[in-house]
This record gives sequence, structure tokens and C-alpha cells, in this order.
Amino acid sequence: MPSADSTPRAGYLSISALTKQYKNTSIPAVDRVSLNVDEGDFLALLGPSGCGKTTTLRMIAGLIEPSSGSVSVQGKDITKSPVHKRSIGMVFQNYALFPHLDVKSNVAYGLKMRRVPKAEIAVQVQNALDLVRLGHLADRRVTALSGGQQQRVALARAIVVNPQLFLMDEPLSNLDAKLRDAMRTEIRSIQRKMGITSVFVTHDQDEALTMADKIAVMSEGVLEQFGTPSDIFERPATRFVAEFVGQANLLDDIKVSGSAGNHVLDVPGAGHLSVPRISGTYSGKSTAMVRPHQLKAHSFSSSSNGIRGDVRSATYFGDTIQYEIQAGQNLLRVQMRADGSPTLAVGSEAAITAATDTIHFIAA
Ligand SMILES: Nc1ncnc2c1ncn2[C@@H]1O[C@H](COP(=O)(O)OP(=O)(O)O)[C@@H](O)[C@H]1O
Ligand SMILES: [Mg+2]
Repeated sequence: MPSADSTPRAGYLSISALTKQYKNTSIPAVDRVSLNVDEGDFLALLGPSGCGKTTTLRMIAGLIEPSSGSVSVQGKDITKSPVHKRSIGMVFQNYALFPHLDVKSNVAYGLKMRRVPKAEIAVQVQNALDLVRLGHLADRRVTALSGGQQQRVALARAIVVNPQLFLMDEPLSNLDAKLRDAMRTEIRSIQRKMGITSVFVTHDQDEALTMADKIAVMSEGVLEQFGTPSDIFERPATRFVAEFVGQANLLDDIKVSGSAGNHVLDVPGAGHLSVPRISGTYSGKSTAMVRPHQLKAHSFSSSSNGIRGDVRSATYFGDTIQYEIQAGQNLLRVQMRADGSPTLAVGSEAAITAATDTIHFIAA
């Protein structure tokens, strides 16, 4: 089972072999997931719909009881602690605000439950509202707010109790694209200011790459890879991760010759690709992962190096052009800057070379 970096280090939040098998289901929704999050880190749980993200987050929160495995925070096992005994601030996908209450009462809720004195509640609520830039709307009913403002109320309500953990389940998915971008930056800046260890669920790879310190990629209940955004994007551990996070050309049955500083990849039926360095796992015939921007294509001539292919399509994106080029058994995607030089005609022959100094290999 692929699971990069599976040796757990002692962390602030530690989940170990966490598993959930719902009643009357054949396979676990979450299957032995282990990872550690350092204090102050922002973890993104990333994967397609149904892969077990919400179930994992809710087990951390104490809203779902694990079938096996454990959750600990600061070295203390909280697996059996009821939700109200955990120090957690949570933001739900649909915000789950109290519609009959105004903004400040929504935010005050957790503090009231904790029997914090009234005067102190007023101060803390105002601070939290200022942090999310809603100080001026404290008396507004939440039903009279925009989606983005409701989102901010939900954030304020979660952080006002100064929890050990800040958990968010796809909090931006109901916002339009522009607001979503702004809120990414805002959530990160609030999170950094408070230094609060956070877990953020998303199915959006861009959101994960741009926001997170660490990303856990899940598929069908299994942790495929846990690492930094650049680990995940540049050095994916599995085919699934390579294809889910960004566009990837996966070249199978590649033989590697040459030596350090000058590796030559033999691409079946298409020619050779030269590259100074390779990363990842290869032995015998292996799978190379090349992002479209790591390749460049030019018109083929008798003196061309590289691999040879037929241009099948050319798509203009303004700043870049993306080609699909059939090279042997592979339909390669090649992305190049649109710098004004003549483009390759569909139907013409192209030579493809590496535009990177490192090509990554994925374990078979
Ligand atoms: N209460 C439940 N009973 C049975 N199956 C469930 C229940 N909740 C979720 N599932 C299943 O568990 C899997 C993971 O769900 P979920 O954690 O919600 O995934 P995600 O948040 O990644 O979309 C899915 O196959 C889903 O259908
Ligand atoms: Mg979900």
C-alpha cells in the first residue's frame, strides 16, 4: 500500500491507524490513516468526493466514533473524549449558524456554553469579529448577511473559544470564485496570527497547494501521500496523486541509461529524453511523471534531439499554449509560454525535449 512518509513523528495533532467502517458497508470509509501535524501548521485533507475527508475530520472533532485507531492532541489520547470535552473550533460546509440570533450572539455561543463571564464574552466576541472584519455588523441578524459575511461569522464563532484545533470542512465551496480566493488569504492570515493548528478539508487541489503547510491526499479511504505542497506536486508518490494534483504525463515502461548529471530516458516508440537529474523510484522499466510545463516542443528537423511526435491539438490560453502530441503510445501534453514565436501547426511533426532539470519517477 503506498504511503509515503508513514513513520509518524511526535506531533501536536497525531492520528494513528484511524479507521471508520460504517454499518452495512463493505469497505472502510477511512482505512488506517496515520499522520502528524506540527503545532501551528495548516493541514489540508485533499481528495475527491467520497474519499473519507469529512469522516476523518469528524473523527478528529469527536463527532464520529472511530472503529479503531486513535487521535491525540499534545500527546494526550482524546479518542474516547466526548466532543464537548475537546478544545475544537469547527466550521461546517453550510456554516450551521443560528438563524434566529444576531451576529454577536452566534459568535458568543461557545463562550456562553463554557460559562465565561458576560463582560469577558463581550470583549472576546468583539475581538473575534474585528479579526474577521465584521466588527461593524455585530448586531445584524445572520440571515441579513451575504454568503461571504456568514462565512466570516462561522470563522469567528469557531476561533473565539481559542481552541487547540481549528477544523474546517470545505468552508469555501459555497462562495463564488473571486470571494473564495480572497477568503483563502484571509483564513491563512487569521490562522497565522493566532498560531492555531488547523485541519482544512477540500477537494480543490489549488486550494490545498496555495493554503497548506502540509497536504494529506486521500483516495477511497486510504492516505496516498502526506507531505508539503511541493512534495505532493513535484514528487508524487503514486499515480493517483500525480493525476489528481495538477496535470501529469505518465510515461510507462521507461528505461533509464546514462549517469548522474545526464540521464537518458528511452521512451518506447518515440525516442529519447535527456535530463540532468531524476527523482523518485525507478528500477528496470518504470513510470516517469512529467508535468506539461516540464516539456517543450519545436518543429521537427533531421537534426532534432528528443522524442518525436505528431501535433494533435494546440490550445491557446493567452499566456500559454498547450499542445497534445502523439509520441509512440503516449499522448503528451506540452505547455509552453506564448512568447510570440510561431506556433506548431496541428498535423505537423514535433520534437519534444525536457524543459526541466529533474524528472520524477513513480513506483510501479
Ligand atoms: N453515515 C454514513 N453511513 C454509511 N456510509 C457513509 C456515511 N457517511 C459517509 N459514508 C460513506 O463514507 C465514504 C466517505 O464519505 P465522506 O467522509 O463524507 O467523504 P468526503 O468528505 O471525502 O466526500 C463515502 O463512500 C460515503 O458514502
Ligand atoms: Mg465531505
